[in-house]
Formats: sequence, C-alpha cells, structure tokens
Amino acid sequence: MTATEVHLRAAAVAAALRIVDAHLAEFDDRYPGDTTEQGRYRLRPPDGGNRGWTTSFWPGMLWLAHDLTGDDRYRQAAEGHVASFADRIRRGVDLDTHDLGFLYTLSCVVPYRRSGDHEAGRTALAAADHLLARVLEPAGIIQAWGDLSDPRQRGRTIIDSLMNTPLLFWASETTGDPRYASVARRHTAQLRDHILRPDGTTFHTFYWDPDTGSPLRGETEQGNHDDSCWARGQAWGVYGFVRNFRHTGDESFLTAARRCADYFLRHLPQDRVAYWDLEFTDGSAEERDSSAAAIAVCGLLELADQVGSEQYRTAAGDILDSLIAGYTGEHALLLHGVYDKPKGVGVDEGTLWGDYFYLEALTRLTVPGWISPW
Ligand code: GLY
Repeated sequence: MTATEVHLRAAAVAAALRIVDAHLAEFDDRYPGDTTEQGRYRLRPPDGGNRGWTTSFWPGMLWLAHDLTGDDRYRQAAEGHVASFADRIRRGVDLDTHDLGFLYTLSCVVPYRRSGDHEAGRTALAAADHLLARVLEPAGIIQAWGDLSDPRQRGRTIIDSLMNTPLLFWASETTGDPRYASVARRHTAQLRDHILRPDGTTFHTFYWDPDTGSPLRGETEQGNHDDSCWARGQAWGVYGFVRNFRHTGDESFLTAARRCADYFLRHLPQDRVAYWDLEFTDGSAEERDSSAAAIAVCGLLELADQVGSEQYRTAAGDILDSLIAGYTGEHALLLHGVYDKPKGVGVDEGTLWGDYFYLEALTRLTVPGWISPW
C-alpha cells in the first residue's frame, strides 16, 4: 500500500466511525431499516424491531468498530444485541428463510467465538438447526425463502445462500456433528453446478424439482432479466464460493469463485463500481450498486489471499478507493446502492449490508491478522 492509500483509508475509517457513533446514539439496541429513505436511515418499520434479513449487519458493524478501535463501548453495544436475536429464535419471528446464516453469524457466532457467551452459542446453534430443517432431499439444497410448502418457493435456492453456509460450518466445528458441514458442502456443490453458468455468470435464483431432485431452471427476482447477471449476486458468488472453499478445501469452489470474479471484473465501468446489473456499463442511465462493489472487495481480498494473486488484491483496492472517493455519505457509509430495482425498492439509497461490507473491507485492509466471521 502506498502512503497516500494508507492516509486515504485511515481517513475513510475515521469518517465511517463517526457515522457508526451517530447511529449508536440514534438506534442503540433497535434496528434501522434495510436501506435509507431519501438518504437517511430510519427505524425499521414499525418500531425498530428485529425482523427481516438485514438486522445483524448493525451489530456486525459494531463488532468491526470494536476491531478497528479496541473501544469497549462498541463491544458492549454489540453484545447487547444477543438477547434480541435469542428472543427472535425463541418466539419464531420471521424464521422462514435461509438468511439465518447472515443473521446469526454476525449477531451470535461472533460473540460466542470471542467470549464463549453461552446464550449466543445456544442461539446460533438453534439457528443452524432451523437451516438444517430447510434442506430438501433428494436435491440436497437449502430452500431459500418462505414456508417449505409454498408452491412458488418450493425447491428454490439463491446465490446469496453461499454466505449463509458459514453458520453450518461453525455448527459442525462447535458440536463435532458433521451433518451441518455436510449439508453446507452439498448445497454449495449444487450451486457450483447449476447457479453458476458456463460463461462465468450466475443466475440469481434456481429451482430443483422437490420430488426428484432434478435441476429445473434459473430465474431472477432482483436482476434485469432471467438471463442477465445481477451484480450483487455475482459479488455474493465471489465471496461465497471462496468462503466455502476456506471451510472445505474443495478446489472446485475456489475455481468457481475465480470464474465469478473474472467475469465481474471484466464487466465493470471505468470507475470500477458496478451497475446494479452487469449488462449495463458506461453511458447507461441505470444506477450503480455500491453494495455489490463492497461485497466484491471483500471477496477479492479473500481470493487474493487464497491464490496469492496481486491482481485480485489490486482490483479490490481500486474498487475500494473509488468507493471512498465517490460513493461515501454522511448518514449512510455508502451512497448509491440498489436493493431491488425491478420492484422499485431501495433504488439509489444507502443499504445496511453495503455499509457493513464497506466497513469490513476497510477493516480487512487496516487491521493486521483480522479474522473473518464468515
Ligand atoms: N440477500 C438479499 C440481497 O442481496 O438483496
């Protein structure tokens, strides 16, 4: 890293921490919405409660702030969220989702790993058990969304699920029960074979026949059309496949991550921040998705470590520097994200996950020996 890069990234960390401090004063143990509304986060409707798939990014950011500063205020605030996630599992609030991995890795696995917090450990295991209950045989996939009997959702998984399997690897490590890791590995292998297309692009979602286990078809929800390449999905592919390689040592997952990364990097505009679907590029009036960029930075840095490639490290640094220079805000860490363009939700707004992965990218580059929660 050059002296200028070190200086710019240190300034970016300081600016990000100022925003985290302001959020701590405003939200504390409640939760902001998935995205900003006209540039500002508000309490998650209706009352800042713990529902939806993104709430753990708030304590996740507090843990990163603690890693960046060593300030105990952040640790205490992050630990304060365990009770809410435990209550959510106990009361069965909004659990019909594979996103239990995102939710319980950051909120509960992290405090369990750091201090052996028993409530956090028990809660994360309960979440892993809910994920096991979503496995559909004979396909061996974890159904992404909805009740398992919902005909529209039955047999469907999505690329984002690659970031939910780390909860299962943790559960096997912690209990010594190999079932969790074995489910995660089979699920990832199905995505490698079907959600990743031969040209290195990815489908957002894919269906398997729930009775025979045969692969059926890809479809999008948040991309431009079924055959296009949704930018955030491709970024989840980079980071998700490489993390699954880390947990299994399966080289085919590393190859899958490289194929996702190579396509992603070849389809970036000049300023290196992806449009929300990779079929758009310079000259398009469509919006960027800064959150796809932030996720890709984390994935590329991890990939660079795994394959010893300066090329991926440089590409990650270029994207991050472009985010710092042109996409940072005063209420959201990152401006110009897109949640779901086809449905008109959270378009050109800050996103809670974009903010988390941007701060994770800064942490990876500024805290030597930082250990990933994923
Ligand atoms: N995991 C949902 C999304 O990326 O929008």
